[in-house]
Amino acid sequence: PAMLRHGEFVGSLDCGTTSTRFMIFDRYANVVAQHQIEFPQYYPQPSWHEHDAEEIMETCNSCIEEACVELEKLGWTKESVKAIGITNQRETTVAWSRKTGKPVSRAIVWDDSRTRNNVTHFTNQLNSVGLEFEGEMKRGEEGVQALKKLTGLPLSTYFSAIKLRWMLDHWETVRKAHDEDDLLFGTVESWIVYCLTGGVNGGIHVSDVTNASRTLLMNLSKLQWDPALLKFFGIKPSVLPKIVSSSEVYGDIAHGSLKGVKIAGLAGDQQAALIGNKCLNQGEAKCTYGTGAFLLFCTGGDIVQSQHGLLSTVAYQDGPNGKPVYALEGSIGVAGSAIKWLRDSMYMVATAADVNTLAAKVPNTGGVYFVTALGGLLAPYWDPSASGLLIGLSSYTTPAHIARATLEANAFMTRAVLESMKLDSKVDLKHLKVDGGMTNGDMVMSILADLGGFTVIRPEMRESTALGSALLAGSAIGLFNWNIAKPETLADVNTAGDNRFTPQMSDEQREKAWKGWQRAVERARGWEE
Ligand code: G3P
Repeated sequence: PAMLRHGEFVGSLDCGTTSTRFMIFDRYANVVAQHQIEFPQYYPQPSWHEHDAEEIMETCNSCIEEACVELEKLGWTKESVKAIGITNQRETTVAWSRKTGKPVSRAIVWDDSRTRNNVTHFTNQLNSVGLEFEGEMKRGEEGVQALKKLTGLPLSTYFSAIKLRWMLDHWETVRKAHDEDDLLFGTVESWIVYCLTGGVNGGIHVSDVTNASRTLLMNLSKLQWDPALLKFFGIKPSVLPKIVSSSEVYGDIAHGSLKGVKIAGLAGDQQAALIGNKCLNQGEAKCTYGTGAFLLFCTGGDIVQSQHGLLSTVAYQDGPNGKPVYALEGSIGVAGSAIKWLRDSMYMVATAADVNTLAAKVPNTGGVYFVTALGGLLAPYWDPSASGLLIGLSSYTTPAHIARATLEANAFMTRAVLESMKLDSKVDLKHLKVDGGMTNGDMVMSILADLGGFTVIRPEMRESTALGSALLAGSAIGLFNWNIAKPETLADVNTAGDNRFTPQMSDEQREKAWKGWQRAVERARGWEE
């Protein structure tokens, strides 16, 4: 250890839906050391998806420790890590006790759609009681629009307030803690920061603006919890974290190898990927294909209200006094999770990568469409009653056709989101930056370009989610002179270049396929009662 050199690095804790990673970056965004651990997924009933928040936290601690071991093996001191950022699966709802610092229930994951009835309930409430907006009660369509103006979001199973409401209505431990003012609510970053800064022994209870903008409880322009929304969902202010910016020093890590290191960046994983791709200015967009697929289009200081099924969300806020930067988002609920389903539930392939090999055995799907509405449909359809649908099957159909239809579903969903984006932003994106696990295969990228009708730009360096949160943290402490508000200070970061995939399919073929997709979606909608 005496021989260890001292350097300057920044860490990123990336808490995704299925795994946690800790990555250590240098000033150019080279990954110096990293560690990744998958954690258990619980599916106790159809449409339910839960996590054990303590298990998530254990993976965070282990990833940090293991990555530090690797760093030292490479000859660097762990004191070289100057700050860390945290990025996370968004909307997933964690409930814990102020007294014990322990979760009082399982966490409900973002793609869990058990709350369909709550959505119906609150839709009825909007119609009958209404929502207070600018001093007046707004009902019916006006109520829907008021909710959208306040939060940027529609009523959906996807967002945290609905999940928290379900917990309060169905889980005695959560209700009791709420009644006794013992409950603390948070999205995943909030839980992790609380634990890393000491938990019950002085842990801080905060949530960053990007995550808070996914709860249905935050006023999108004021960046504060909105009393009318809290009243509407029946949630006490005492359970809520303090809303903080995406780039500032929140506190120090209280234990382990990085004890004393500053936590200085927080952002939901999709916003972090936008930042990691350096899409910091109006008009820049990216789509990340992870468990789901999320297309974010930066709209600068303006909140663009979508009329076509997209969300308005905070992209980032640089420091407590920074002006928020906003984005339009198309959230596609199912992307990589459909591949996981083919592997783990249908036993069609042994590994996720095998789906590509299988799909490559056929030149087309033979007329098969797979509407991957495995938990209802999110953007741009917002239909919790839609069901997964395989259609166009015949005696000719083989697993290869189904594998290919699964990959095509991604392309169709992306096109659907882009069509909405074009209508809302008046910008016709001719190319799209992509990243995420699903983008590793070239064939998947060609399918996306062909069926989407745009050029796909795949950066060589695709750790953009982790990099985004590292940039936020580095910028907060002035490391490497990074400044998130001045993109020119990031010119040296991630200069690895990209690969491009251009559409090869004729327009006629593409439009024919698109019509088939639209027919299939219509059949999938409204299925669940
Ligand atoms: O909104 C959910 C999103 O943050 C999850 O991201 O990467 O796990 O698909 P991912």
